[in-house]
Amino acid sequence: MLASFKSIGAYVPEKILSNEDLEKMVDTSDEWIQKRTGIRERRIAEDEITSDMGVKAGEIAISRAGLRKDEIDAVICATISPDYFCMPSTANMISHKLGLNPVTSFDISAACTGFIYALNMAKSFVQSGTFKNVLIIGAEKLSSIVDYEDRTTCILFGDGAGAAVIGRTEMQQEAIIDVHTGADANYSDYLITPGGGSAEPTSLETIKNRRHFMKMQGNATFKVAVKTLTKDVIEILEKNGIDSNEIDHFVPHQANYRIIKAVGDALKMPKEKVALTVGKYGNTSSASIPMAINDLYESGKLKRGELMLLDAFGGGLTWGSALVPFGGE
Ligand code: COA
Repeated sequence: MLASFKSIGAYVPEKILSNEDLEKMVDTSDEWIQKRTGIRERRIAEDEITSDMGVKAGEIAISRAGLRKDEIDAVICATISPDYFCMPSTANMISHKLGLNPVTSFDISAACTGFIYALNMAKSFVQSGTFKNVLIIGAEKLSSIVDYEDRTTCILFGDGAGAAVIGRTEMQQEAIIDVHTGADANYSDYLITPGGGSAEPTSLETIKNRRHFMKMQGNATFKVAVKTLTKDVIEILEKNGIDSNEIDHFVPHQANYRIIKAVGDALKMPKEKVALTVGKYGNTSSASIPMAINDLYESGKLKRGELMLLDAFGGGLTWGSALVPFGGE
């Protein structure tokens, strides 16, 4: 059995938080943010929670796959900003709100690489015959774990969701070619939410010390990201005997324009083939790749059969890449 990337959908909340807004909140400037990251603005969810955004993206993906809701037999949600800490999972909430009960649904935690991890699992489920149509979602309300007093992180992140349906195909040219995933906790403190887990259970002290917010060693993370991603994308291309000029769309995780450019340059990828949404959405962690694919789709640039190269890097540290022909209409 072969697995195909059947459809894409995304949702962004309406409220925009611009660099100028952030200038009023912390000691930063639009010029610094744009120069170091390429970000101009990001979206912030106000009344909506993570599953609400996942539902909206999921509904679009299911309808674009030409499926009825009862044809979806599993939901995987990648998120680091779930509705609830521990349980129930955000995927459970999404499948309930979509009216998909009682299908298998669960979350995975692989930070910004979450969507590629979910893609890997969905591909295996479909290929093995366990499930026919798997809805994979990357959904994040990062504004709920960002410290808006910390200028080194609050300028980077935004909210949003993206979703895709992974289903069966008999056509080799539409089948997902390969997915790579990896992790190394030697760098676990580079990107971490230290408080609230079993290592530092929530207490007045953890809250007072703002340990429940995301912390990042930005510069150190940047260097490992460029090195790891460059190696990983070159490896997946070589392993599958594909030249970078055969790629129609390079869709990297949208963390920082400079990381995207460094990896794109290493692949000699022309600018027009590189998906770029970091300027308007910032870093939306597990949602960033499906949101970027959706942008390509809605602007008419992504056609059936075109080959995408995905790559991502995030807390864990985790990373991944994938070679995916678009199997949708
Ligand atoms: N506004 C103004 N100045 C800021 C700032 C801000 N928002 N944030 C940090 N600075 C200052 C620092 O304090 C530092 O000042 P100093 O030189 O006086 O000490 C200076 O800018 C440089 O900081 P540095 O952290 O070295 O900057 P950088 O070029 O590495 O850019 C990031 C910072 C966060 C944009 C960049 O490191 C990055 O994108 N890292 C990776 C992010 C990432 O990929 N995340 C995880 C994957 S999802």
